Amino acid sequence: MKVRIDVTEERPEAAPSLLDPADWNAFRSTAHALLDRLISQIEQAADGPVWTPMPATVKRRLAEPLPREPRSVDDVCNDLAELILPYGTGNTHPRFWGWVHGSGTAGGMLAEMATAAINANCGGRDHGAIHVEKCVLDWMAQWFGFPKTTAGGLLVTGSSMANLLGLAAARNRAIKNVRRDGINEARLTGYVSREAHSCIVKAFELLGLGRDALRRVRVDDNFALDVDRLRAEVKQDRADGFQPFCCIATAGTVNTGASDDIAALADFCRSEGLWLHVDGAFGALTILCPELAPRLAGIERADSLAFDFHKWLHVPYDAGCLLVREQKTLLDTFADRAPYLASGAALAGGDIWPCDLGPELSRGFRALKVWFTLQEHGTRRLGEAIARNCRQAQTLAAKLASRPAIRVMAPVPLQIVCCRYEADGMDETAIDTLNAELVATLQRRGIAAPSTCRIGERLCIRVNITNHRTSEADLTVLVQAIDAIGAELAAATQPERRRAVS
Ligand SMILES: Cc1ncc(COP(=O)(O)O)c(C=O)c1O
Repeated sequence: MKVRIDVTEERPEAAPSLLDPADWNAFRSTAHALLDRLISQIEQAADGPVWTPMPATVKRRLAEPLPREPRSVDDVCNDLAELILPYGTGNTHPRFWGWVHGSGTAGGMLAEMATAAINANCGGRDHGAIHVEKCVLDWMAQWFGFPKTTAGGLLVTGSSMANLLGLAAARNRAIKNVRRDGINEARLTGYVSREAHSCIVKAFELLGLGRDALRRVRVDDNFALDVDRLRAEVKQDRADGFQPFCCIATAGTVNTGASDDIAALADFCRSEGLWLHVDGAFGALTILCPELAPRLAGIERADSLAFDFHKWLHVPYDAGCLLVREQKTLLDTFADRAPYLASGAALAGGDIWPCDLGPELSRGFRALKVWFTLQEHGTRRLGEAIARNCRQAQTLAAKLASRPAIRVMAPVPLQIVCCRYEADGMDETAIDTLNAELVATLQRRGIAAPSTCRIGERLCIRVNITNHRTSEADLTVLVQAIDAIGAELAAATQPERRRAVS
């Protein structure tokens, strides 16, 4: 006889949860007030300074002892509003242009709330969140032209992690039984441009290959990897007994936004039997812009691809993606489940779980905020936001170049503009110091938040526009501020310079 329990019947009297609200209505009104506060914060993202440093008094409050007894959720929300919400990085502000930050969306915030409500563990099993992630990955495979029947991947924290895992798969293919035996005597070498992101170096260190095994290949005048030079280095390494195993193309370098010739690298990798990994952290998203996508030609031939949703798609942190053309390469690299995790019937269903494709077992439901953003804005509008940033970068470069004291330091293929305030009579090192101080002053005064980088030896002001709230008026504010603060700082150093000369 089948035992039936009517799950629609009211649950028998039970002791209340220790952690759920005792009064749901009171909780509801506190939550609605907080949501209103959060929506206003995003609505008014352009108001006030770009960056507000956390005052010492607030830091002291945060350092207070951990409470042993419960506090009311009202009190905790008040502390949240007073101690934490005003002191963000600033990347929701229209004049935040530092590093490569996305600026978030109001819809993304809703998705994050829904994610917490479901509280899904996406390590595996058969539930909705797993199917949403699968759906997002299928869309990504379509975007980048990866084969529908074999491609696969994983949502991860960001491109640093996606690069590491893609390169782990490359290493696994290169060394038989590396999972059992380690790398032992293998003398693997990989190749990447000198402009590549530092996380690729870290990946080589973490994979036990050592940073010297990563050859940093010279770039051309456009800061793209010099393919002739690559050819020569691989040949030399083979002659010296090394085992070249992978080449990493960058689609959008962090300093200048340069892209390597992925099609040429794909040809080269095929002829040499190398794994082609593409670091497309932000640049890969230009696939959504008809006028920019041709720069990515050849990306569909990559063995693996890393990119982020939290950068140019403005999905709330964190959300990155690793896509591989053969899902099997990830299974070969990572699959290994303890008996208690075996696939089975019902909720334990599904052949391949995300934990088979990467090192993590418990994983959050990152796919929901990606899915929500794609649904809410659609690829056309998201692509237009990216293209607009690139047009803004061209406008900014032209405005900067028209100022006699400002020099644009590199081509502007996408959204990054590097420039330098060059005061008369200063040597290069003093100009470096002045530009570093100029960036810090812009941030301290809350005017704008660019960051710095080095082009060759020289320190530059680096303006990265991955910001859907930036307008042309914001760019004008920046140009005027660079000119005015540059002149102010140069004037302040004049007495020193006079003393040095006399
Ligand atoms: C080209 C490139 N690769 C990798 C990364 C690292 O990405 P994440 O910060 O998402 O780990 C960045 C970050 O800016 C980047 O620009």
